[in-house]
Amino acid sequence: MQAGLQTKETGPVGSLEDAAEPLLELRAVTKTFGEVTALARLDATIARGEFVTVVGPSGCGKSTLFNIVAGLEEPDTGGVLRFEGRSCHAADLLGQVSFMPQRDLLLPWRNVVDNAILALEVEGVPRQQARAQALRMLPEFGLAGFENQYPHQLSGGMRQRVALMRTFLFERGLMLLDEPFGALDALTRAMMQRWLLDVWQKYRRTILFITHDVDEAIFLGDRVLVMTARPGSVKLEQVVDLPRPRRPEIVTAPEFIRLKRILLEAIEEESIKSFQSATVREQTS
Ligand SMILES: Nc1ncnc2c1ncn2[C@@H]1O[C@H](COP(=O)(O)OP(=O)(O)O)[C@@H](O)[C@H]1O
Ligand SMILES: [Mg+2]
Repeated sequence: MQAGLQTKETGPVGSLEDAAEPLLELRAVTKTFGEVTALARLDATIARGEFVTVVGPSGCGKSTLFNIVAGLEEPDTGGVLRFEGRSCHAADLLGQVSFMPQRDLLLPWRNVVDNAILALEVEGVPRQQARAQALRMLPEFGLAGFENQYPHQLSGGMRQRVALMRTFLFERGLMLLDEPFGALDALTRAMMQRWLLDVWQKYRRTILFITHDVDEAIFLGDRVLVMTARPGSVKLEQVVDLPRPRRPEIVTAPEFIRLKRILLEAIEEESIKSFQSATVREQTS
C-alpha cells in the first residue's frame, strides 16, 4: 500500500490490502464540448480483473468516457481520475490502456499480422519480434492460416478478431472495447462472446465493454453500469451474480431474466428522456 493513498477520501476500504485497491476510479468526471455536456459528475470504480459492461442510450457519453480513460480527451477540471491507486490526468493514461474504438480501424493496405502488430510497432517493438508474437496468437483468435490476408478478404467476425487481437497484443492493465460486436449478425456475435470470455479468463485482463445489447451486457459482465441520458453519469450499477464459465443457455435462467428486467427498465427510462430532449431540441430549433 502506498502511503499517499491513505487519505480521508479513500476511507477504510482504501486502506485494506493492495488487492482490494481499484484499478481505475473516476470521481465526478464531467466533460463539455462547447454547449453540450456529454458527461456530468460521473463516478465509477473498476476492480482488477473485472469485466464491466456499460449500456446507455445512444449519445449519452459512452464513447466520450472511453476516450477519457484511453487518454485521448481531458475531462473538465474538478473531476478526479485514479489509475492503479494514483491520481492522474487523462493524458497520463495514454499508452497505459489498450483501446478498441467503435470502428475497427484496420488499415486496408496491411495484412492480418501487420494490422495486429500496429500498436506494438508504434511502441517501438522490433517488427520481427512483434510478428512472431502475433503469429503465436493467431490460432486462438481463429485466424490461423489467414496471416497474409488483407481486411477486404475477411468476414466481419474475422476483422473484429484482428482488431481484438491488436488490443490483446498491446498488453495493458485495462482494455476498453467500444461496441466491438455491434455490427455482427446474431450467431457470429454469440460465438464471439463465448470466445471473448475464454480469452479474457486465460489472459486475466480487466475489461470495460460498451454494448447496446442488454443480453450481451449480462452474459459477459461481472457488473453492468447503466448510464443516464445525456449528460451521462452512472444511473445503476448492477452486479451479475451468475456462475462462470457462462453457458449459452444461461440466458433462460430465472436470475438472468430477473437482471434483464431490472436493466431494461432502467435503460428504457433513460431512452425516453433522451428521446424527449431530442424532440424538444428539434421543436425549438
Ligand atoms: N469531439 C467532440 N466534439 C463535440 N461534441 C462531441 C465530441 N464527442 C462527442 N460529442 C458529443 O457528446 C455527446 C456524447 O457522445 P458519445 O460519447 O459519442 O455518445 P455515445 O457513445 O454514448 O453514443 C454527443 O452529443 C456527441 O455529439
Ligand atoms: Mg459511442
